[in-house]
Amino acid sequence: MSNEGHDSRETSTKVVGVRRLKEAMAKPASTRIFTVANQKGGVGKTTTTVNIAAALSMGGLRVLVIDLDPQGNASTALGVPHRDNAGIYEVLMGSAEIQTVIAKVAGFPVLDCIPSNTSLANAEINLVSMVARELQLKEALETISMNYDYIFIDCPPSLGLLTVNAFAAAKELLIPIQTEYYALEGLSQLLETYSVVKKRLNPTINLSTILLTMFDGRTRLANDVAANVRQHFPNELIDIPIPRAVRVSEAPSYNQTVMTYDPLSPGAIAYMQVAREIAERGKAKEEVIFDSNVVSINYKKDGEIA
Ligand SMILES: Nc1ncnc2c1ncn2[C@@H]1O[C@H](COP(=O)(O)OP(=O)(O)OP(=O)(O)O)[C@@H](O)[C@H]1O
Ligand SMILES: [Mg+2]
Repeated sequence: MSNEGHDSRETSTKVVGVRRLKEAMAKPASTRIFTVANQKGGVGKTTTTVNIAAALSMGGLRVLVIDLDPQGNASTALGVPHRDNAGIYEVLMGSAEIQTVIAKVAGFPVLDCIPSNTSLANAEINLVSMVARELQLKEALETISMNYDYIFIDCPPSLGLLTVNAFAAAKELLIPIQTEYYALEGLSQLLETYSVVKKRLNPTINLSTILLTMFDGRTRLANDVAANVRQHFPNELIDIPIPRAVRVSEAPSYNQTVMTYDPLSPGAIAYMQVAREIAERGKAKEEVIFDSNVVSINYKKDGEIA
């Protein structure tokens, strides 16, 4: 997809109202590709993926979501038709070019989605016999990643070949952790997969971001989990937890993210702050230019003794 395509879309979607923030978010130096993974089910992977993606797009960044879960929840939340259309499954199988399965998400400046479909459930089996099966997604992404500032891959709740493809294709790992009992259970298995992939498939992948989801600050348990995660991952943890909030869970049934469904609700505000924090952490470093005029040198005055 060319930038030209994005421009023409912007002018046409402005008519129906594009959500855009007054204060733009910082652009990264190069495309940041995140895998959002946790093999524990229902911890907020999809909710985190779609809402952070939507928020970054509202902040003026070019964003792509890849729905790598046969459940298709990310596609649903973004209002992208998926069940009968070709999607990421066909790309992984080599029967569709990735450019042809990109769908535009309505109402955002540049937010695209590669949907999943029910065939994706067969991917784990059908990938097994393929050459370079762990690298299918990475290779496909290489042809389009330069068109985006951020790419998020929403993983299924397992550590199978789909998730391994996501790990191999990503530069960063984002782990959502639900602040409940057993929250950290299974995390060691996830970290083990991460380190195996890092060693064998993708040495540059970096566990950069951990986010606490469905946080209820009134409970001791949630605070204990938060403290525990902060102790183990002081740099990775984003210190803005996502509160448990009913509007967040309602939004998908309207094929929306909470960023458009109820942008001033506590969940939307929290996801917006998290997105801005992620953008800040990853912003392009300003080049330090050596300016000889500002270097102060104490020259000796006439007659002074050196
Ligand atoms: N902050 C929140 N407040 C309230 N409900 C939430 C919140 N975040 C997620 N939920 C709800 O919790 C459920 C699980 O969330 P989600 O689908 O994002 O998790 P998941 O990790 O992607 O699940 P799966 O493992 O099945 O893919 C959903 O019904 C979602 O609407
Ligand atoms: Mg999900």
